[in-house]
Amino acid sequence: MSNGDASHEAPAADSQDGAEAAPAAINTKRRYFLIGATSVVAGVGVVGAAVPFVKFWSPSARARAAGAPVKIDFSKLQEGEMLSPIPAWRGKPIFVLYRDAESISALESSELDLADANSENPEMQPDYAKNPTRSTRPEIGVYVGICTHLGCSPKFETLVAPGNFGEGQGGFFCPCHGSRFDLAGRVGAGFPAPDNLEVPPYRFESETVIVIGDEGGAA
Ligand code: FES
Repeated sequence: MSNGDASHEAPAADSQDGAEAAPAAINTKRRYFLIGATSVVAGVGVVGAAVPFVKFWSPSARARAAGAPVKIDFSKLQEGEMLSPIPAWRGKPIFVLYRDAESISALESSELDLADANSENPEMQPDYAKNPTRSTRPEIGVYVGICTHLGCSPKFETLVAPGNFGEGQGGFFCPCHGSRFDLAGRVGAGFPAPDNLEVPPYRFESETVIVIGDEGGAA
């Protein structure tokens, strides 16, 4: 994986299901289904700070598969970190990110030429996350950790160790074909991923407990 040319490679054919449709025409829900548990779990990588001993509760596997809300306690999460182990909802990895002030201000001067800077695609976030941080609380970002190209799981890169991003920038880098997303999950234009990372429905039950899959959005 390199930092340069990989980002501009032509999109690879979808070898998982043999579909011949162009990547842009691939149905997002079908793609999420196809990646399944194996590629999601295997593909999840975290660069930078990871927080051990995170406590989260979840319903039974059967209920979870049916889409039951998942409750996550992120009280151990520190500024600049992303929650780990990465929780899942409906079989999808969920990135819970605690942005520090630097990260929030970096969003206003992104080095990326953003494809959908204002979150105009209504399918990629609830209305309450249609704002510059794509969240209900600027410091807490909640995103589905699946690349909108062909479903790999992007790596989180902090401001401290931004290997695939410039000075003072962090974000999510997809190792499969080089798409880059900023710390609000907004994709850079010209990369293979067509959309921003999805924001799942969520609400805060308390200051440090979040419920994924439960509409509301109010802090
Ligand atoms: S899966 Fe192709 S860039 Fe992420």
